[in-house]
Amino acid sequence: MTDSKKSATLTIDGASYDLPIHSPTAGPDVLDIRKLYAQAGVFTYDPGFTSTASCDSTITFIDGGKGELLHRGYPIDQLAGKSHYLEVCYLLLYGALPTAAQLEDFENRVTNHTMIHEQMANFFRGFRRDAHPMAIITGVVGAMSAFYHDSTDINDPWQREVASIRMIAKMPTIVAMAYKYTIGQPFVYPRNDLDYASNFLRMCFAVPAEDYEVNPILARAMDRIFTLHADHEQNASTSTVRLASSSGANPFACIAAGVACLWGPAHGGANQACLEMLREIGSVDRIPEFIERAKDKNDPFRLMGFGHRVYKNVDPRATVLKQSADEVLELLGVENNPLLQVAKVLEETALNDPYFKEKKLFPNVDFYSGIILEAMGFPTSMFTPIFALSRTVGWISQWQEMISDPTMKIGRPRQLYQGETLRDYTDIEER
Ligand code: CMC
Repeated sequence: MTDSKKSATLTIDGASYDLPIHSPTAGPDVLDIRKLYAQAGVFTYDPGFTSTASCDSTITFIDGGKGELLHRGYPIDQLAGKSHYLEVCYLLLYGALPTAAQLEDFENRVTNHTMIHEQMANFFRGFRRDAHPMAIITGVVGAMSAFYHDSTDINDPWQREVASIRMIAKMPTIVAMAYKYTIGQPFVYPRNDLDYASNFLRMCFAVPAEDYEVNPILARAMDRIFTLHADHEQNASTSTVRLASSSGANPFACIAAGVACLWGPAHGGANQACLEMLREIGSVDRIPEFIERAKDKNDPFRLMGFGHRVYKNVDPRATVLKQSADEVLELLGVENNPLLQVAKVLEETALNDPYFKEKKLFPNVDFYSGIILEAMGFPTSMFTPIFALSRTVGWISQWQEMISDPTMKIGRPRQLYQGETLRDYTDIEER
């Protein structure tokens, strides 16, 4: 962090405190309150971190007002259009676009780690067949620290690198195995002659009894979904990974924590919730009823796939996915899919409604991803696992950045205590 030239003065009970202001390379200035408690004896209060920067980072930048998402400075629409997932993984992890030789080396390293320890298959078999794949994935990722002892020392940069490559390489295998297990089909091993997205599709949809040819257009759409979800700065699951790792926990435990957090419907679970909502709406004529419910303060219903903590403009990932949805559905000959029709009219109706306009609620990435994934043949329960697979590189990059930072401290928020003050224990017969 550079020395700050600006400062703000805070006055409490007549005493003044100078607070440094840091200017980032992009985004709003940041008021540094690290010494505030020591100097003034007060905490700051910000539940949900709506105004709090929790770390320094050089990985991802979002301008929510403009609807801009940059990875290491490169806009997401350019990456989704011109690059591919593994190149974006390299960019997020190492900070620069790779040369051809660096990319080849990186792809080889990832490819060499796609298989999981055979003993891990027994973990899958311990779950009920009707388990949600996210429950299985949370457990299996956590279990990785019991298998890969040679990459759990967070103080060794080489072990951190191996853990990073392992996570990116094995996540498609784990997610596909979770899917196969829940549908009662045999596990399909990875094939290292295929690209990352094609290999994943094959592990999900191939069966030993038949040949499976990966459709390159679907593989491209899959790769684009991975790319669009790769990182999103300090969101809930990434902050969970950072908080878990601040205690020195091993990388597999930290990523398992991220997977668990992502599952919630306000975060990565929104893509499943969104498709279930489109199904519940069912037909275009029922849209007004659901729009009214979303606006009703006494009804907990929200339009899933709408709104974002940071974007107060169109989510740039949704723009790319809307186009991808059209392409994929046309390719599959299901462009008249009733869910897509409902989604399109719902989007238009909400965007023209004063409530959504005033609150700056736009479609987010989850609005269209579910439609594409469903058209590809994935059940809704696989939507969040695919998000987890894609986001693994973001979690890992942010974890690497944090561990390499010499000023890293254990995360320990404070509180605004509203409970009882000191009182004496009452014996049970006197209560
Ligand atoms: N439908 C109807 N009203 C909404 C919606 C929605 N989807 N989202 C926000 N609002 C209203 C909300 O009721 C509140 O109104 P008021 O000011 O009158 O109380 C106002 O807009 C601000 O909402 P908030 O809950 O204070 O905003 P937040 O920043 O805490 O929440 C959010 C952001 C994403 C959790 C929320 O917009 C939401 O629940 N959206 C639906 C779930 C969803 O699509 N999540 C995926 C997010 S993108 C993928 C990811 O990052 O994981």
